[in-house]
Amino acid sequence: MLSWDDLRQKCMDCRSCRLSQTRTNVVFGVGCTEADVMFVGEGPGEQEDLKGEPFVGAAGRLLDDMLAIIDLDRTNCYIANIVKCRPPGNRDPQDDEQDACIGFLRNQVELIQPKMIICLGRVAAKRLIDPNFRITREHGAWVQKGGIWMSAIYHPSALLRDPSKRPETFEDLLSIRNKIIETGSKI
Ligand code: URA
Repeated sequence: MLSWDDLRQKCMDCRSCRLSQTRTNVVFGVGCTEADVMFVGEGPGEQEDLKGEPFVGAAGRLLDDMLAIIDLDRTNCYIANIVKCRPPGNRDPQDDEQDACIGFLRNQVELIQPKMIICLGRVAAKRLIDPNFRITREHGAWVQKGGIWMSAIYHPSALLRDPSKRPETFEDLLSIRNKIIETGSKI
């Protein structure tokens, strides 16, 4: 396991997959390095690539609102992605790109030791919870893996495209809030 400084440097220097050839910035992650609650998206979009910070575009503004509902913000949780470089045209990150990058996320999880990880959308849920994960059926459900509580909610971009999913997501956010209380997580 690398220290934060070594991990960040290795990530910034990474050329392990094709996404490194088209990136503007590596999007490492943001938030509290001792957070009990971690959120994981799929990969940076255009705004994130330009700024080097996760979830700063339209979906990110919605994510901030979602976090606020459960008393979270960018200082008391940690936000990262499955891949740290932008997939061109915002396509899904391919399996080999995820394979090349997942070690960075695993090291982040080892350093943070969160009590829970919330996957934002299908791509993260399939990678971290179950390759057969069905977001429409299984969002809001909890499983424990390696001592960490895991759940997935709809990706904020999906909620922007389809606002009819928002009431279910509100329920999922309340469930996260309950899990925070149940596990004595600090926020
Ligand atoms: N979508 C993601 O999955 N991650 C980001 O950082 C931004 C948009």
